[in-house]
Amino acid sequence: MPITTCIFDAYGTLFDVSAAARQAAAEPGRDVFARHWPAIAEKWRLKQLQYTWLRAVMGQHLEFWQVTQNGLDWALDSEGLQDDTELRDRLLQLYWELAAYPEVPAMLGALKAAGLNTAILSNGSPDMLAGAVRSAGIGDLLDDVLSVESVGIFKPARAVYDLVGQRFGCVPEEVLFVSSNGWDACAAAGYGFTTAWVNRAGDPVDRLPTTPRHRLSDLTGIPDLAHG
Ligand code: LAC
Repeated sequence: MPITTCIFDAYGTLFDVSAAARQAAAEPGRDVFARHWPAIAEKWRLKQLQYTWLRAVMGQHLEFWQVTQNGLDWALDSEGLQDDTELRDRLLQLYWELAAYPEVPAMLGALKAAGLNTAILSNGSPDMLAGAVRSAGIGDLLDDVLSVESVGIFKPARAVYDLVGQRFGCVPEEVLFVSSNGWDACAAAGYGFTTAWVNRAGDPVDRLPTTPRHRLSDLTGIPDLAHG
């Protein structure tokens, strides 16, 4: 069945989540943070994601913006920087202005030129996603930005993946679902989407019941996959 719709995870897939910590580390007066930033960026992301999974299992949903702050607080605490409130505020501010990966505009442009539907499907809160889309300048290349907030549970709950068919009126096989999160790509494959895992870090595949159909090292090959 031909692909009609390309759906993208946001954080880590279109937007570079380590950009906030990397940029803050390069700012004047941040010598201590400059030594800690790679560990903080990694722990921040890991805790942010763990909290989404735990909250989904516990039935205690909270907006991704709050979960993002909880993850950062844990990461700063683990590196002894929990009292640096100015740093905390700066990192959170930068999270609203994340850079898109360099290949994103041309890749989305090629999909739109081919007549495909394009959208984000993300854990992100609608206002966070709007901020990132605006700062990356890719709003005109997306038909929609779908947030888990409309179902009140995080990925990989099936109710989240259901949002795609509800919005675009397509069946799962017509969807190319693109994520850099291995667990998201595996779960979306189990849901029935055609999946592409963008494995920038060269990670091993997750040991889950279903695995992604395609594996790429960045997003440049997505239009070719979408054309079949
Ligand atoms: C998202 C997270 C999982 O954008 O990266 O949904």
